[in-house]
Amino acid sequence: SAIARSSSAAGAQIQRRGYSVHSGPERKVAVLGAAGGIGQPLALLMKLNPLVSHLSLYDIAATPGVAADVSHINTRSEVKGYAGEENIREALEGADVVIIPAGVPRKPGMTRDDLFNINAGIVKSLCTAIAKYCPHALVNMISNPVNSTVPIASEVFKKAGTYDEKRLFGVTTLDVVRAKTFYAGKAKAPVAEVNVPVVGGHAGITILPLFSQATPQANLSAEDITALTKRTQDGGTEVVEAKAGKGSATLSMAYAGALFADACLKGLNGVPDVVECSFVQSNVTELPFFASKVRLGKNGVEEVLGLGSLSDYEKEGLEKLKPELKASIEKGIKFANAN
Ligand code: NAI
Repeated sequence: SAIARSSSAAGAQIQRRGYSVHSGPERKVAVLGAAGGIGQPLALLMKLNPLVSHLSLYDIAATPGVAADVSHINTRSEVKGYAGEENIREALEGADVVIIPAGVPRKPGMTRDDLFNINAGIVKSLCTAIAKYCPHALVNMISNPVNSTVPIASEVFKKAGTYDEKRLFGVTTLDVVRAKTFYAGKAKAPVAEVNVPVVGGHAGITILPLFSQATPQANLSAEDITALTKRTQDGGTEVVEAKAGKGSATLSMAYAGALFADACLKGLNGVPDVVECSFVQSNVTELPFFASKVRLGKNGVEEVLGLGSLSDYEKEGLEKLKPELKASIEKGIKFANAN
């Protein structure tokens, strides 16, 4: 909407998109893993967000350079870089939103679950620090496998006595971004007007786009819907293969992460009707965590919305994904309690 409204010269457009006269309350956003492939462009995009007053960039190394670089951009937020565990306290204290893209990405032939052994430990230690230094922050989990790292975070927070299910989010926004892009292409619809809910989880068949609810509506064939569904589910792998060993999605993920964090900030600031899909604690199915539309508010999750009516194809997809998602959730919980 802000983008649609600015129609004058390109420079003025950027100005109006990037800055706002009423930028609202002070909000600190911390990015953990800020020197990485996702972390760097995400730091850039968060620096452009007028809702952010303090941008904290944390990684095990290389953050001073990223922070110095990003800090020269003349937008609202004050940027600080923190490198090394001895500085994580300062990086986190006072944070309203913590975004976590820390951990290793996939290489060709790997599933997200293949990352479990390394990333589970990273997420566990970062969440332990969050419980200590900013227990009330909204946590945006990007590190894969999200289907397991979110349950790990919940267990860490439970043990620390800080768990609030309203404040923990698995970032599945990239699945929505992909579904919208791919649908717009097939439906020949203007991509900016397209909406597609994506539910379930964030890996392979657990990613369930609900094209029957896509808007604007288009009369796509069953074959088209199957192809779109598969492409959305395999979107990450498409990028992993194209990058041929140099990692997974970073730029589109940074965009998606920035979009989701912006929604969280808007919710915190009391903007009404902020709805995004996210992998959260849920009663929508029998599984303890599930991605669906979520209404965001001043305390994080305000309402987990139901799935709405599904096509037969989607109903089938939902039943098929449950065992895999259940196993990934249980794997995370088991890890958190065993280590
Ligand atoms: P990368 O390897 O380029 O960057 C990861 C960063 O994390 C590095 O800078 C590294 O130093 C840092 N890091 C490692 N251990 C850390 C720790 N203990 N504390 C703080 N920082 C630490 O990887 P990339 O491409 O940025 O991906 C990051 C994660 O995001 C991966 O797990 C990947 O699978 C996931 N991802 C998630 C997506 C989603 O849709 N949720 C989409 C794409 C990637």
